[in-house]
This record gives sequence, structure tokens and C-alpha cells, in this order.
Amino acid sequence: MAARRMDGKVVVVTGGASGLGRASALRLSEEGAAAVVVADLDGERAAAVAGEVTAAGGAASAFAVDVTDAERCEELARDAVERWGRIDVLVAAAGVSSAAVGAGEQEHDGTDAGLLWSTDTWHRVVDVNLNGLMYTDRAVARQMIAAGQGGSIVNIASICSVWTSGNSTPYAVSKAGAWMLTKSLAVELAPHGIRVNAVGPGFIETPMTAATRADEAAAAGVTGRTLMGRFGQPREVADTVLFLACDESSYFTGSILYPDGGFNAPTR
Ligand SMILES: NC(=O)c1ccc[n+]([C@@H]2O[C@H](COP(=O)([O-])OP(=O)(O)OC[C@H]3O[C@@H](n4cnc5c(N)ncnc54)[C@H](O)[C@@H]3O)[C@@H](O)[C@H]2O)c1
Repeated sequence: MAARRMDGKVVVVTGGASGLGRASALRLSEEGAAAVVVADLDGERAAAVAGEVTAAGGAASAFAVDVTDAERCEELARDAVERWGRIDVLVAAAGVSSAAVGAGEQEHDGTDAGLLWSTDTWHRVVDVNLNGLMYTDRAVARQMIAAGQGGSIVNIASICSVWTSGNSTPYAVSKAGAWMLTKSLAVELAPHGIRVNAVGPGFIETPMTAATRADEAAAAGVTGRTLMGRFGQPREVADTVLFLACDESSYFTGSILYPDGGFNAPTR
């Protein structure tokens, strides 16, 4: 069989139970990954995705983790090394939208310090999307450094790392932070041969965008601005993740790639 792009690599995917994380787990396994650890808050669905990987001929295990729990992230990384020998690649896809966390808050009158989002929503979104990302990256980087064989970390950021509509401020700020975390860690980890890059998807067909897609006006707003005139598919993001995970991107670090159908090309 011809060499595949992930041959021999051990991969950890957070947010692996759904959407972009699930698509990445399946895609990287399809490209020959030695093992995929499917990690998610929802341990049952993580196990189901690990089962999908196995059914397709790959090797996988599942791990229940809340990425806002720094010690649990350390356990995730330690468990992956104990089970599979090392970690070569992290795909950090665990995330929440402001809308999912603070459902209905935009209908409120903005009395919370003048912002439309409550303190609780702000904390939860930033805690998962930024603090949790840092805890995960740090835990895996520590194992990669100890192993001394380098590695590739792929953080799922967003077009919202550099663009905001103003109606999802906690999310946009958390994703801007994710992009700066990516660049800062690229600097910190370069001496260890660990590459750190980000993927900034546009609007993709996953459970996270279900409400937007169900709302005709909101969906038209997205497809109207997206040069390709449609939402993206999870596999189109997984292909970008694959590129940054594998050795074809060996000269990439501290970069972000946007599979967004041209959403960010217009200047307004
Ligand atoms: N779908 C899009 O259009 C889009 C666009 C840009 C960026 N993103 C980002 O891509 C990533 C994946 O999103 P998706 O669209 O696949 O959404 P999704 O809701 O389908 O999947 C997110 C997964 O993250 C898990 N998760 C949430 N909180 C967690 C926590 N505290 N600890 C561990 N796991 C947790 C969920 O259980 C879920 O399985 C997110 O970071 C999201 O912000 C998505």
C-alpha cells in the first residue's frame, strides 16, 4: 500500500465526539494514523466516534474530558501516552458558541454592565474556547517535549479570530485569543520541534450552526457573504487539519488557514 500522510502518527482530538473534531478524527485515521484518541465532554459520543474509527479499520480510544479542568487535560495527555506510546498530533476542536451557552440572552436589555451577554456566558465561553484550549495545548506539549520527537498542534480557531458581527462577542474574543495563543505557543515550542498552527473555519454544517442554518434570513446572510455561496462541509475543514497535522506542512508554524469559502475576502 502507498504511504499515507498520517502513517504511524498518534493523534489526540478534543471535541472529537461531534462536528469538526469527529470529521478530523475520521480523516486522520483514514490517512493511516496509528491511533486516534477521541476526547470530549460527552464520553458516550466520544466512544461512539472511536467505534466509527475502529469500524473503518483504524485504531482508537475514547476519553471523557472537560477541557476547562486543567488537571483532567493532563490526565488525557498522560493516558494517551500510556496507551499508545506517544502523541504526535493534537487537534484541539472542543468549543462552544456564545449562542449555545447564553441561549436567548440577546433578547435581554443589556443591563449586565452594558453588555448583552451575562457574566456567566462570558466566563463559560472564554473558559472552554480559550482557557480550555491552553490547558489542552500545554498538557500535550509537555508530553511532546518529554518525548523529544517534536509534534504538530492544530488549534481550531475561527473566522471570528479576525472578524466579528458584533452579535457573538464572547465567542469572537475567545477565538481571537485562540489565534494569539497559537502564535505565542509556536514561538515557545519551536525550540522543541513542535509546530503550532490554527484553522479558522467559516460557517460549516455542524450542530454548532444548526440554528443559523434553520433561520432563513440568518442562513441567507451567511451564504450571501460567502463567495462560494454555501456552508462548508466538515470534511473540507478536516482536509485543512490534515495538511497542518502531517509533514506536508513542515514549514508552517504560527500560521492560520481559513477554510471559509471566501467569507473573509470582502473588506466589509
Ligand atoms: N461549525 C462552524 O461553523 C465553526 C466555525 C468556526 C469554528 N468552529 C469551531 O470548531 C470547533 C468545533 O465546533 P463544531 O462546529 O464541530 O461544534 P460541535 O458542537 O459539533 O462540536 C463541539 C464539540 O466540543 C465538545 N465540547 C464542548 N465543550 C467542551 C468541554 N468543555 N470539554 C470538552 N469538550 C467539549 C462538545 O461536546 C462537542 O462534541 C469549535 O471550537 C468551534 O468554535 C466551528
